[in-house]
Amino acid sequence: MEPARSAFVPLLLCSVVSAVSGVRSALVSIPSVVHGTCGERLLLPVEYHFDVWPKDLQGTWYFQGDSSDMVMLVTFSSHTLIMNMVYNGSVSIHPPNASLLINRLDETAEGWYRLDLNFRFPGVDSPVLEKKVVHVFAHVPVSVPVIEMSPGSEVVEDKDNVTLRCSVKTGSRAQYLWLKDGVVVGAGERRTLSRDNGTLAISPATKEDIGEYVCVARNFIGRERSRPLPLRVFYGPYNLEVSSQQGLKTGEVFMVDPGEPVLFECWADSDPPNSCVWISKSSNSSRVITGSRFEVMSNRLAHKEDFVCRAFNNVTQKQDETQFTLVVASLGTGKKQEFLQAGSSVSHLAAITVSSLVIIGCMLLVIFRKRSCCPHRGGRLPGRRLERECRDEFAGWKNGSGSRISGGSRLFGVVGAENIEI
Ligand SMILES: *[C@@H]1O[C@H](CO)[C@@H](O)[C@H](O)[C@H]1NC(C)=O
Ligand SMILES: *[C@@H]1O[C@H](CO)[C@@H](O)[C@H](O)[C@H]1NC(C)=O
Ligand SMILES: *[C@@H]1O[C@H](CO)[C@@H](O)[C@H](O)[C@H]1NC(C)=O
Ligand SMILES: *[C@@H]1O[C@H](CO)[C@@H](O)[C@H](O)[C@H]1NC(C)=O
Ligand SMILES: *[C@@H]1O[C@H](CO)[C@@H](O)[C@H](O)[C@H]1NC(C)=O
Ligand SMILES: *[C@@H]1O[C@H](CO)[C@@H](O)[C@H](O)[C@H]1NC(C)=O
Repeated sequence: MEPARSAFVPLLLCSVVSAVSGVRSALVSIPSVVHGTCGERLLLPVEYHFDVWPKDLQGTWYFQGDSSDMVMLVTFSSHTLIMNMVYNGSVSIHPPNASLLINRLDETAEGWYRLDLNFRFPGVDSPVLEKKVVHVFAHVPVSVPVIEMSPGSEVVEDKDNVTLRCSVKTGSRAQYLWLKDGVVVGAGERRTLSRDNGTLAISPATKEDIGEYVCVARNFIGRERSRPLPLRVFYGPYNLEVSSQQGLKTGEVFMVDPGEPVLFECWADSDPPNSCVWISKSSNSSRVITGSRFEVMSNRLAHKEDFVCRAFNNVTQKQDETQFTLVVASLGTGKKQEFLQAGSSVSHLAAITVSSLVIIGCMLLVIFRKRSCCPHRGGRLPGRRLERECRDEFAGWKNGSGSRISGGSRLFGVVGAENIEI
């Protein structure tokens, strides 16, 4: 018996320490919270951690509901048990195993369950007492959630607010999570979430909010996903562009051969699709053509014609416009390319030349000024003259290069046929 006694003393100490600190006992462990599903069995598992099996064991389970007094459910010793008649059939236990089985969990079985255990170890007279409490929650599984959207119909960007509501028919303590195109949606500048995330409010809606929304309902015992709900937001027009199959486009300028019929198309990112109007700006009596396509006969144009394309979304009531220039030039397409490239390289060359000359000029100026300050060579006047000459020289270079640059732009002036106003 001697080895058993010496083994028990540290165990006893251990249980005293844990009782003081409130940490789980080394002798018995029970989870402090257990979540169960209504209608199903629920086990409150009790584990013993004995090195030496106790000589005597006696325990009692108590139950206290949210609004009821504490009742004794069952009391047991190693091999016998006395069941509270009222709960016979509701709970079961198989001593000396102290685990309590709730046969069919329902909401009335929610509450605190307390287990008092007494052990008497061999060779020790005084019994050891253990008290454990476990909080039991009974949950109803969540049903497949459903999303309700308001307004149900048209949503216009920067104008309308959208509210998405997620709900479950059954399910206790449901919390929600929103996904947009598979990505979790958090609260933000325009988005607010209700406490349980059940309501997602977007104020105001924008193009960014377009996507498929899924709501995930979850509680302690499960989760379900809703069917995806697409959100359409009317937006635009954005990124307005004018394009043409004919001619050559550089920046805002289209170059075409005379006689070539030119078809322009207007495109913008817009829902619903935008309408387009084309406005000719060169002629004083500006003419307006509607439609996303616009055809001009280039031989009926002045050599250079400015147009404005205006896109309008009749739902968002927003519009955007872009300006472009049509130039009629009697050049082959290949040559036009060359000339345009040449034009740009000429202007680059000119810029480099001008800046080099400016630097050289200024260096010379500095040198001459220094010399003119020298007391052995003349006074200040000649220095001034030099400076003026230098300035004139510089101005001359500037003018020279300027005409070259405009020469580049004169490319566009290779004139088309008739100057008939449209
Ligand atoms: C529980 O009730 C059944 C009859 O329904 C009876 O046979 C059994 O002995 C009872 N158990 C206890 C522990 O009272
Ligand atoms: C005690 O009983 C429960 C079920 O009634 C079982 O799951 C558990 O394994 C048992 N524990 C021991 C130590 O036998
Ligand atoms: C959208 O919500 C804002 C406040 O967040 C409100 O001022 C505005 O009137 C609402 N717009 C509509 C169309 O209900
Ligand atoms: C609400 O959703 C956010 C993600 O947007 C998530 O981090 C948070 O845990 C959710 N809150 C609840 C109560 O489910
Ligand atoms: C353009 O039209 C305005 C009136 O609409 C007129 O006053 C002006 O003189 C015209 N200009 C040219 C260059 O024809
Ligand atoms: C708005 O524009 C669309 C497409 O351009 C067109 O189908 C629709 O009839 C227009 N609606 C109204 C009210 O003008």
